Amino acid sequence: MALPDGFLYELKERSDISDIVSGYVNLKRRGRNLVGLCPFHSEKTPSFNLYPENGSFYCFGCGAGGDVITFIMKIENLDYIEAVKFLAQRAGMDMPENSYDDGVGKLRMRIFEANREAARFYNKKLYEPEGREGLEYFYRRGLTDNIIRRFGLGYSPKSRYALCDHLKALGFSSAELVAANLAFMSSDGRRAVDRFADRVMFPIIDLRGNVIAFGGRILTDQKPKYLNTSDTPAFKKSANLFSLNNAKNTGERTLILCEGYMDVIALNKAGFKNAVATLGTALTPEQAVLMKRYADEVVICYDADEAGQKATARAITLLRNAGLVIRVLSIPEGKDPDEFIRNKGDKGAAAFKNVLDNSGNDVEYRLQNLKTKYDTNNPEQKAGYMTEALRIVSSLDSAVEQDIYVSKLAGELNIDKASISADLQKLRRKKENEYRKRDFTRISTELSGRDDKVNTEKAKHTRAAKAEEMLIAFLVYNNDMEPQVSARITPQDFVTKFNAQLYAYVVERIHEGVSPQTTFTRDFTSDEVSKFYAILHSYNSQTATKQAMNEYIDVILEEKHKLTPEKISEMSPEEIMASLKKKKSKE
Ligand code: CTP
Ligand code: MN
Repeated sequence: MALPDGFLYELKERSDISDIVSGYVNLKRRGRNLVGLCPFHSEKTPSFNLYPENGSFYCFGCGAGGDVITFIMKIENLDYIEAVKFLAQRAGMDMPENSYDDGVGKLRMRIFEANREAARFYNKKLYEPEGREGLEYFYRRGLTDNIIRRFGLGYSPKSRYALCDHLKALGFSSAELVAANLAFMSSDGRRAVDRFADRVMFPIIDLRGNVIAFGGRILTDQKPKYLNTSDTPAFKKSANLFSLNNAKNTGERTLILCEGYMDVIALNKAGFKNAVATLGTALTPEQAVLMKRYADEVVICYDADEAGQKATARAITLLRNAGLVIRVLSIPEGKDPDEFIRNKGDKGAAAFKNVLDNSGNDVEYRLQNLKTKYDTNNPEQKAGYMTEALRIVSSLDSAVEQDIYVSKLAGELNIDKASISADLQKLRRKKENEYRKRDFTRISTELSGRDDKVNTEKAKHTRAAKAEEMLIAFLVYNNDMEPQVSARITPQDFVTKFNAQLYAYVVERIHEGVSPQTTFTRDFTSDEVSKFYAILHSYNSQTATKQAMNEYIDVILEEKHKLTPEKISEMSPEEIMASLKKKKSKE
C-alpha cells in the first residue's frame, strides 16, 4: 500500500531538512546552501551540500543524494517506511491507515523482539543453577551484579535447543530465529539449533535501545573465543559499536575506543562510561563517521601487542579522515585496559585516569613509533626517518601545529629548521597536486557516464544523455514550462531509457499538480534517487535555463535521429528518406 501524495507532501513540509540534518552534521552556510563533512563517507574537506530551497542534499564526493526521507534512511539505517514513520513521529503526524510495513520492515521488528526475549532469557539463566559457571566466570573477572545488570549480560545454556524451545513457545518461528542468527537449521533441515551454547553473552544495543546482536565468549581456552552475530536484516556489524548507547549520554565529546567487550565493561565499572568497542572486526570508515556524530576527540586504547599497534595505525587514519582529534593511550606493562584496571585493585580508576591524562596526540605517537625503526646516527637512516616524519607532520591541518613538530625535529636531529620547512612545503604542494588530480579524474568520469550504474546507456550516448538530464532538471525547476516542452518532445524521443522514464515521471507528476520531489523517494530505488538528485544538482537552476531549453530539445532530437551505420542497415529506403527530411527541415 503506497503512501498517499498528500501525506508525503505534509510530512515534508513539516520536516525541515536543515533542522534534521543539523542534528547529525555540523553545517556551515555557503551562499544559499549549507555545507559540511559528509556523514556517508570519510572526507577532510566538505563536499556534502544541503539545499534548503528544495529540501534536498547531495554529496559531490560520494554521490549520495536525496530528500529528507533518504537522509534518515541512510543515517539511521532504516528502510523507506521506517524512515517515514521516524519523521512522522517527530512531526507529530499519524501514519495513514493501511500503510503497514513491507516484508523487510516487519521481519526486522520480529528480530528485535526475538533478540530482546533472548537477552532476557540469557540473563535469567545466569542466575539459575545451569548458569553457575557463567556467573562465576564474570565474578572471577571482577564484575558485580550491578554491572551485569547494567550491560544485560547473560549465559547461553549447554543444551543446543534451550533458546529455540523458549522462543518458539513465545510464538517465534524457526525462520525468524535463523534470520536473527540466534539459530541455524540442523544439517537434515529438520529443526532449528541454538547458535550460542555454553557461552557468557554480551548483548549489543543500538542507539534506540534495540537489542541488535550478541557476542558470546567461551568459558574455556577453546576456539573460537568469541562468537558474534553475523549481519542480519536488523544488524550491520560494520556500522555499530558496542556500548555506544551508554557512551553517547555522558555529555563529553570524547570517546575511548577499545578492542574488546571486557575492556569496555571494565572501564565502565571504573567510571569511564564513554568507552566503546568494535564488534569483532577492525574499525571501519562507517564506525569512524558514526563516532564523529557523538565526539570531537577519540582516545585509542588498544592492546599493547603487535596486532594492537597495527590496528592503532589503521584507526588513526580512519578517525583522522572523519575529522576527529586523536589521542593514543599506551597502557604500561603491555596490558589491555581490563587487566590493567583489575590489577590495580581499588586504585584502578585513578591509575587509568593518570594514563589517560598523559596520553599524547596521534602525531607524537606515530613519530615515536617511527623513530624506533631508524638508527638516527647513520646519515642515510636519518634522512629516511626525516622523509617519513615529514609525511606524518604534513597530515596535520594546522600550520601552527606543523611548525611545532618541525622545530622539534630540527632540535632532535640537529638539522637547520629552515631546510626542514622547505622540504615540508614541497611535500605539501605535491599532496595538493595529487588531490587536484584525483578531483579532476572523478569529475571527468562522472561527466563521461563511464561509472553510471543507473543510466547504463549514458557512456554510449553522452551527448544525448547530458541534454536529457539538463532538460529534466530544467523542468523540475520550471514546472510552468511543461506545456512548451511537451509540445516539442515526448519520452519516446529520448535516447536513453532511464532518462525517458525519469522524464515521463516528472511530466506526469506536473500534470497531477504534485511536485516530482514530493513522491520521488516513494517511487524509485535509492540508487535512482541519488541519480535524480545528482542530475538536479549538477545542472542547477543557473545552467538549466529557459534560453537553453530549446537547445537541449534540439540536441536530443538530433541524437535520436542520427543515422548510424547499424540503423541505416535496419531501415527501409522510405524511412531513410523520411529521416533525412526531418533533419533538413530543422536546419
Ligand atoms: N574477538 C572476536 N573473535 C575472537 C577473538 C576476539 O570477535 N575469536 C573480538 C571480541 O570482540 C573481543 C575483541 O575482539 O572482545 C578483543 O579480543 P581479545 O583481546 O582476545 O578479547 P578480550 O576482550 O581481551 O577477551 P578476554 O579478555 O575475554 O580474553
Ligand atoms: Mn584483550
